[in-house]
Amino acid sequence: MKDILEQLEQRRATARQGGGQRRVDGQHAKGKLTARERIELLLDEGSFEEFDMFVAHRCTDFGMEADRPAGDGVVTGWGTINGRMVYVFSQDFTVMGGSVSETHGAKICKIMDMAMQNGAPVIGLNDSGGARIQEGVASLAAYGEVFQRNIEASGVVPQISVIMGPCAGGAVYSPAMTDFIFMVKDSSYMFVTGPDVVKTVTNEVVTAEELGGASTHTKKSSVADGAFENDVEALSEVRRLVDFLPLNNRQKAPVRPFFDDPSRVETSLDTLVPDNPNQPYDMKELILKIADEGDFFEIQKDFAANIITGFIRVEGQSVGVVANQPMVLAGCLDIDASRKAARFVRFCDAFEIPILTLVDVPGFLPGTSQEYGGVIKHGAKLLFAYGEATVPKVTVLTRKTYGGAYVVMASKHLKADFNYAWPTAEVAVMGAKGAVEILYRSELGDKDKIAARTKDYEDRFANPFVAAERGFIDEVIMPHSTRRRVARAFAALRNKKLSTPWKKHDNIPL
Ligand code: HXC
Repeated sequence: MKDILEQLEQRRATARQGGGQRRVDGQHAKGKLTARERIELLLDEGSFEEFDMFVAHRCTDFGMEADRPAGDGVVTGWGTINGRMVYVFSQDFTVMGGSVSETHGAKICKIMDMAMQNGAPVIGLNDSGGARIQEGVASLAAYGEVFQRNIEASGVVPQISVIMGPCAGGAVYSPAMTDFIFMVKDSSYMFVTGPDVVKTVTNEVVTAEELGGASTHTKKSSVADGAFENDVEALSEVRRLVDFLPLNNRQKAPVRPFFDDPSRVETSLDTLVPDNPNQPYDMKELILKIADEGDFFEIQKDFAANIITGFIRVEGQSVGVVANQPMVLAGCLDIDASRKAARFVRFCDAFEIPILTLVDVPGFLPGTSQEYGGVIKHGAKLLFAYGEATVPKVTVLTRKTYGGAYVVMASKHLKADFNYAWPTAEVAVMGAKGAVEILYRSELGDKDKIAARTKDYEDRFANPFVAAERGFIDEVIMPHSTRRRVARAFAALRNKKLSTPWKKHDNIPL
C-alpha cells in the first residue's frame, strides 16, 4: 500500500510540474503566473479540488504519442471564493502552449456541465496558443463543444473570462460569449486574425498589443470589461466581482454584512448639481454616496464614459447601477453608451440583480456618424433591455431628461418601480432654448420677446412637477436623503414578482 500511495504522489507531482521548470521559468520571465499559481490566488486557500489531473491526449500524429503530459494543458476543478462555490479552468501555457486538444476541450466541458447542473459560476483563465495544430479538426470540434456550452450556460450561471496570455483565432469566441472579460495589461491579447495575417490581407502594419491588447479592448472595441496591471490584481478583482453576483439564475445575489447606516444623510448632495445648467458634475460622487461603504465595482470604465455601469451594495444587497455621466459628452446617449448599458441591464435582469438608474441626460447624440452607425437600433437595445427587465428598478433623476432619452432611461413607462426626482430635475421634450426656437421661429429677431418666451418655458417645464402631476415621478426627494430613499425603495421591492407573456425568446434589436 505504501508503494501505491507513493506512486500516486509521484504521478501528482509530475502533473503539477506542467511543462517543466524551464517553461515555468519562461512563463515567470514574461511576468505571468502559472495555471496553478493563478488558481491558488483566485480561490480561497486550500479550497481547490481538481478534476482530470491525469487526462492525457490521444493523438498519434506527428509523433505525439511520445509526449502525453498529464492534464493536457489545462487545470480544471472547483473551489470557493469567500466560501461560495465556483468552477474554474486555467490553461497551462507551459504544456504545448496551453493549446486546445480534444481532451483539453473535454475537460473544460466537464466542469461547465457540472457548473450548470449544480448552479455555480464558471471562471476561465485563458492562456493558450489556440487549437492544437497536431489534432486538426478534432481540436476545432473541441472548441465547438465549449462554445455550445457557453451559449447554454448564458443566463443560467455567471461566466467570467480572464485573458492572461494569447487568445487568438476562433478561440476568442468562447470568452466573447461569457458575461465579463478581463484582461491583463501588456501580457494578454485577443484577436480573430493576428498581425501577420492583417499585414498580408490589408497591408496594415500593427503590433499584437495595438491590435488586441488590453488597452485596445477596454478603450476602443469594448470587447473587454476591465484591464488590470498584472495577474495578481486581475484575480483579486475577479474575487471582488464574484462577491456581487448570485451563483446562478435561481438564486438571489448574496446579502453581505454592512456597516453603513442606510439612512446616512449626505448634505453635500444638496449642492452637487451646479446652478449653471451647462456646468457638469461628477455622477460618480452620487454613486459612491449611495453605495454601502462607498464600494463600487465599475464595468467598462474606459469605454463610453458618458454612461457609467457597475455594481454597488445597498443594505448589503447587490445593485447594478446605470448612470449618465455629465462630465463626458454632457452625459448624452450614443451608440456606444447604449450598447454598453443595454448589455449590463440584461446581465442584471438575467441574474435577478436590482437596477438603480441615475439620470441626467440631454438626449441622443446627433450626427451623421451616429445615424450611419445605426443609433436607432443601438438606442433601441437599451430601451428594450429596460422594458423587458423584471427586476426591481429604481430611478433617480438629478437634473434634466429630455425626449426619447427620458423614456429610455428607466422611466415609469418602462415599468420602473420607483421614480424619484431631485427638485433640480426637469422632464421635457427638449431644453428651453431649443423649444423656443422651434415654437416661436417668427419672433427670433426680437431678443426681448424670445427671452420672455424662454423664461415662460422654463417656469412651466424646467422642474419635476409637470411629470410629478401625472404620476410619472413618484416623489420629489431631497438630494441629501437619496441613500435612504433608494434603500427603502429596494427594501420594499425585495419580493417583487412580475410575469411577462410566454415566448420562446424575444427578438431584441441586435
Ligand atoms: C500546438 C502549440 C500551439 C498550438 C503553441 N504551441 N501554440 N502547440 N498547437 N496551437 C507550442 C509551441 O510549439 C511551443 O512548444 C509552446 O507551445 C510555446 O510556444 P512558443 O511559440 O514557444 O511561445 P511564444 O513565443 O510565447 O508564442 C506564443 C504563440 C505562438 C504566439 C501563441 O506559439 C503561436 O503563434 N502559436 C500558434 C498559434 C496558432 O496559430 N494557433 C491556431 C490558431 S486558430 P515547445 O515544445 O517549444 O514548448 C485557432 C482556431 C480556434 O485557434 C477555432 C475555434 C473554432
